[in-house]
Amino acid sequence: MTHRIVSVFGTRPEAIKMAPLVNAIDNSRNLDSSVVVTAQHREMLDQVLELFQIKPDKDLDVMKKRQSLSEITTNVLLKMDEVISSEKPDLLLVHGDTSTTFTAALSAYYNKVPIGHVEAGLRTGDKYAPFPEEMNRNLVGSLADLHFAPTVGARDNLLSEGIPTDNIFVTGNTVVDALKTSVQSDYKFSDEKLANLALPSLTSDNDTKLVTLEVHRRENLGEPIENIFKGVKKLVDDFPEIFVLFPVHRNPAVREPAERILGNHERIILTDPLATRDFHNLIARSYMILTDSGGIQEEAPSFGVPVLVLRNKTERIEGLRQGTILLTGNETDRVYKDASRLLTDGEFYNTMKNRQNPYGDGNASKRIVDAIDYFFKNIDTRPKDYLVTGQD
Ligand code: UD1
Ligand code: UDP
Repeated sequence: MTHRIVSVFGTRPEAIKMAPLVNAIDNSRNLDSSVVVTAQHREMLDQVLELFQIKPDKDLDVMKKRQSLSEITTNVLLKMDEVISSEKPDLLLVHGDTSTTFTAALSAYYNKVPIGHVEAGLRTGDKYAPFPEEMNRNLVGSLADLHFAPTVGARDNLLSEGIPTDNIFVTGNTVVDALKTSVQSDYKFSDEKLANLALPSLTSDNDTKLVTLEVHRRENLGEPIENIFKGVKKLVDDFPEIFVLFPVHRNPAVREPAERILGNHERIILTDPLATRDFHNLIARSYMILTDSGGIQEEAPSFGVPVLVLRNKTERIEGLRQGTILLTGNETDRVYKDASRLLTDGEFYNTMKNRQNPYGDGNASKRIVDAIDYFFKNIDTRPKDYLVTGQD
């Protein structure tokens, strides 16, 4: 018997991490796939849909300039009843911790549709960090029937909250599935600015050092983001061998200070958000990455590139334990100090450069499809959890 799986997502990171799963559901024997995008993001979502050639069955087109959390939540909620009645899901899949994730899950609950949560169980334990993502994933954790935890640590968080062990599957993170084919040594960048730059090569030691910057989190907007940018500016001024590439998020609250503080510097290049394949090839060529992004913390270890996390707390603790990421925070002096240490202390740099990715092996989507088949009794054997050493 075929079961109808409706995947709902709306932002860039959800799309990148759901794309391999949508593909795997499409190719499965017993599951029928439908994709609904809320378009909480517009241009940045469309870039990913184009890359993975996903044509949504429904597009709720909710994005507004400078949208508030309440606006996104109410607009998505009001449109979801109609989606559920026309799409008739046997299971509704959401990903991660965005406003789209929480609202789509709430709507599925109101309509008594079972919910599968991809990338379940990430926690910092602080309801305001990251804000509002920590509460979004907590709330979805309470609503979901199936929890696809990327790591053993995420599973343990769910168990400690009383989620039954039978409902949790440790799968790895689908972000690693999405990385499989993107990085190539002779890659041609589609972004015009990047295509015309002499970027460092993947293989040899390079005299010029590329630093990739990506900052957009709500809790960093305002003074913290200005402080981060000031630290980066001082770094570039003091180290002539580096240049910084910053694909600036479309949020005007990021763009304005970025252009004001970092614009018009010969070794700081500001671009529009990059197509994901360009971005993967960029980080693979980077000496280090400075970011508050969640997804980038999970991608960078695949390339052995150290990450300074521009937040005070992270839920990606596996990278912290392994030493591939460092919690730098958002103060000017600390940003400067940690980054300059990576540039001057070779031993320190080499301890952070680690090629083992604790977040997955590229087969998370397959495990999730198997878990869904098991849930619907299409297969008898429960899929094995993804257990790697060094996760806990
Ligand atoms: C959201 C997610 C966050 C994720 C981030 C990814 C929530 C609560 N947070 O952040 O977890 O890390 O997306 O980027 O859902 N904008 C455009 N064009 C676009 C995308 C955004 O103009 O393609 C503008 C929007 O109009 C909006 C602003 O950027 O005003 C921020 O977008 P929004 O989805 O509200 O982002 P966050 O909530 O900050
Ligand atoms: N990314 C991208 N283009 C860019 C910057 C980032 O495609 O210019 C990708 C990146 O590879 C990662 C994802 O966006 O997979 C992370 O999304 P984001 O940082 O917006 O959100 P978060 O992960 O913090 O929720």
